[in-house]
Amino acid sequence: MKNPDKIWGGRFSQKTASLMEEFSYSIAYDQKLFVADIAVNKAWAQALVQAGIYTDQEAAQIGEALECIQKDFLAGELTFSPRDEDIHSANERWLTERSGDLGARIHTGRSRNDQVVTDLRIYLRGQADLLRDALCNVQQVLTATAQQHIETIFPGQTHLRQAQPVSLAHYFLALVFQLQRDKERLLDARQRMNKMPLGSGAIAGAAFTIDRLKLAKELGFDAPTENSYDATSDRDFVIELLYVCAQIMLHLSRIAEDLIIWSSEALRFVEINEQYATGSSMMPQKKNPDSLELIRGKSARVIGQLVTGLTLMKGIPTAYVRDLQEDKEPVFDAMQQTILSVQIMSGVLSTIVINRQKMTAALDPALYATDVADYLVRKGMPFRKAHGVVGSLVSMAEKQQVALSKLDLHDYQSISPLFEQDLYLLFDPLASVNRRNISGGTGTQSIQQQLLLAEDLINA
Ligand code: ARG
Repeated sequence: MKNPDKIWGGRFSQKTASLMEEFSYSIAYDQKLFVADIAVNKAWAQALVQAGIYTDQEAAQIGEALECIQKDFLAGELTFSPRDEDIHSANERWLTERSGDLGARIHTGRSRNDQVVTDLRIYLRGQADLLRDALCNVQQVLTATAQQHIETIFPGQTHLRQAQPVSLAHYFLALVFQLQRDKERLLDARQRMNKMPLGSGAIAGAAFTIDRLKLAKELGFDAPTENSYDATSDRDFVIELLYVCAQIMLHLSRIAEDLIIWSSEALRFVEINEQYATGSSMMPQKKNPDSLELIRGKSARVIGQLVTGLTLMKGIPTAYVRDLQEDKEPVFDAMQQTILSVQIMSGVLSTIVINRQKMTAALDPALYATDVADYLVRKGMPFRKAHGVVGSLVSMAEKQQVALSKLDLHDYQSISPLFEQDLYLLFDPLASVNRRNISGGTGTQSIQQQLLLAEDLINA
């Protein structure tokens, strides 16, 4: 045998080119799967008892050896050898070094094709749980902030132009519901992912008696996968998670953008805590919102990982191909960056200072233009006509260089006789939002309802 270094070297008479080794090894990143791979090996050793490969005692011996490997590896006492192309071959080597022929039997009925995808599902399940916790946490921060700002009214903008007075709680609750959908998508993807491929072999299924249901339960899966061809060949669960990450990052990126604008010198609606800001190496006065800028920047990276996952799968045949090894770095990175970004967003939001005065001072009387039109509608005028009337008044106010709320009653009446003195009562922020107690609206009662709903959803 000319290629004795390789677990698959038997039929080879030449050594692998060293550049090819470097090119093909995945150990640098798939060692993240170490703990999952040990668990899978332990469970597989137990399952091989029924197949007659190990006695109970031998399986127990293998289990102990694997536990020692885990302890030593996590203590940093094991080093990879140039033979270890991935974490699966490294674990098999360590096991065989410690248990001789017993270790050499562990790969019975198994392929790295079903092993790697089982490890990956276990690992990503754990990452999904971390992400869910991070999302719950940021939702709690948002809800607590909303609770304190039900009566903080700020100029809600559309097209980045003043639109209507809105409760600040309404804004924060919008984010809670967006992230709730992300969390639901995540849990949905996790549930679909939680089936066990082990026993699928390379493509056709293992030719040994294995109780897959029992094995699945032992490894924390809901059930075994239904078809070995499918289980070893698809990575749709990876893509689903990549999409969930990309969608979360999209949401976070937009929140980041909002807060960057709100914290700018022009508005100063909010002040970002120094713990989440950085200075400039040149300009001593600077305090920059780098935490938020990095979240926005990392969203590009995570969206890129989704595109990588999709593109990876589009042209390959339905079975294991080595291309599939390229699934790991994108999804590892996307999960890690998304969890971090959500955690950083929690930190930014829980320390942010909200400047109520600046928000109130920024309320332009033109924000009530819709309320003025609605006033005419209540007096019987068709809305389209009322829209035109108020448009003329806005233009008149602009010409006179006064606020809409400071136009003379005669001016109002010159455009429509329906106006009376009480129109000036429209220009009140709280009264304006409270005309919108419709469910889902920005009125304070509606917000109280949304808060109850949000709390239920977060704790569900
Ligand atoms: N490291 C490989 C991967 O991640 C393991 C599978 C190798 N299988 C094979 N048939 N060459 O996909």
